[in-house]
Amino acid sequence: MKLAVVGGGSTYTPELIDGFARLRDTLPITELVLVDPAADRLELVGGLARRIFAKLDHDGTITTTADLDAGVEGADAVLLQLRVGGQAARNQDETWPLECGCVGQETTGAGGLAKALRTVPVVLDIAERVRRANPDAWIIDFTNPVGIVTRALLHAGHKAVGLCNVAIGFQRRFAALLDLAPSEIHLDHVGLNHLTWETAVRIGGPEGENALPRLLAEHGDAIAADLRLPRAVLDRLGVVPSYYLRYFYAHDEVVRELGTKPSRAAEVAAMEKELLEMYGDPALDEKPALLAKRGGAFYSEAAVDLAAALLGGAGSPYQVVNTYNRGTLPFLPDDAVIETQAAVGPAGPVPLPVASLDPLYAGLIAHVTAYEELALEAALRGGRDRVFRALLAHPLVGQYATAEGLTDRLIAHNREHLAWA
Ligand code: G6P
Ligand code: MN
Repeated sequence: MKLAVVGGGSTYTPELIDGFARLRDTLPITELVLVDPAADRLELVGGLARRIFAKLDHDGTITTTADLDAGVEGADAVLLQLRVGGQAARNQDETWPLECGCVGQETTGAGGLAKALRTVPVVLDIAERVRRANPDAWIIDFTNPVGIVTRALLHAGHKAVGLCNVAIGFQRRFAALLDLAPSEIHLDHVGLNHLTWETAVRIGGPEGENALPRLLAEHGDAIAADLRLPRAVLDRLGVVPSYYLRYFYAHDEVVRELGTKPSRAAEVAAMEKELLEMYGDPALDEKPALLAKRGGAFYSEAAVDLAAALLGGAGSPYQVVNTYNRGTLPFLPDDAVIETQAAVGPAGPVPLPVASLDPLYAGLIAHVTAYEELALEAALRGGRDRVFRALLAHPLVGQYATAEGLTDRLIAHNREHLAWA
């Protein structure tokens, strides 16, 4: 089995490699290609990747290349984990929205739109080349904003599934709190990428007993602390929002907070520098502890599970993925992309039915879906008006003067990445 990772020079890659090595029975990789245009990073990351495989007795080969077409040739699955413009562009996304009183975040709000506009054309070009090299290959997209990027891929007819680690993070956390194995926890997980709620925590499978009331009663304080939301909010909702909902439920508080500290991009850039120095040490042969300070926990497990299921091997029968709605949430168009539990096999994901949803969540999901549709329009066709329309539609923007200010800033800060600007 051959896998290619586009953006393989990411400092995150050792997390993925560690998962591939440990979980080789689930996903028997014989050939792994790390594709990245940044030769210096790729060499450092590739070297550590080979040492991790060797240490854990994995006999698959790992090669590195800047040549995308050669790298994806014959691959059964291609993982996309790239970041157009790197942490510098992310730093912008996290900064200029604050000038308009809006959250500065890499995937939520105006910053997320900027990222989508930079990213969608690049990902579509890569996907086209993957299809040319091997029309049967599965594309697994980690590239943010995952909801909009997956929508772009599916609308262009690609064999793609979007993946995020938020759900697997909750599964692991809840399993630990309930003293159960992660495989015993099935989440009723509903919404859009980075806009989800856990509406039930079932024991044993999709039909299992719902342990969420007990979990909240016994561990509500710990969960609220993780999410940095007041316990009373969780008690009132009776469900667990993902930490990205804090940008909605505590928007103004977050804006004030962000104004007083360095951006996450600046923190990550400093960590990346340190990580790359570590990766260059020939004595290092495992993922360093520092990597745990990044947000990517368990994404290797999620990737292995998904790739294994798509490629017809082992892998959990149900997984949380980003895929077409197809009637799952009846208030959304069929071709909206949702993040949901699905039965996954070689024919792709089939969403599990979702119980009728409280308007408290359905309303926000519908609102952000409309934004995502307009965001994709703007990413595909460009133009100031389309950017403005997407921003005006966003529930965290809404007012025309704010949308105008954000539109000007988005374009000014992203000119080099936008063909039309
Ligand atoms: C989580 C999210 C990812 C995001 C990451 C950011 O893993 O699910 O989509 O990219 O956090 O982590 P970072 O360490 O880059 O801030
Ligand atoms: Mn994510």
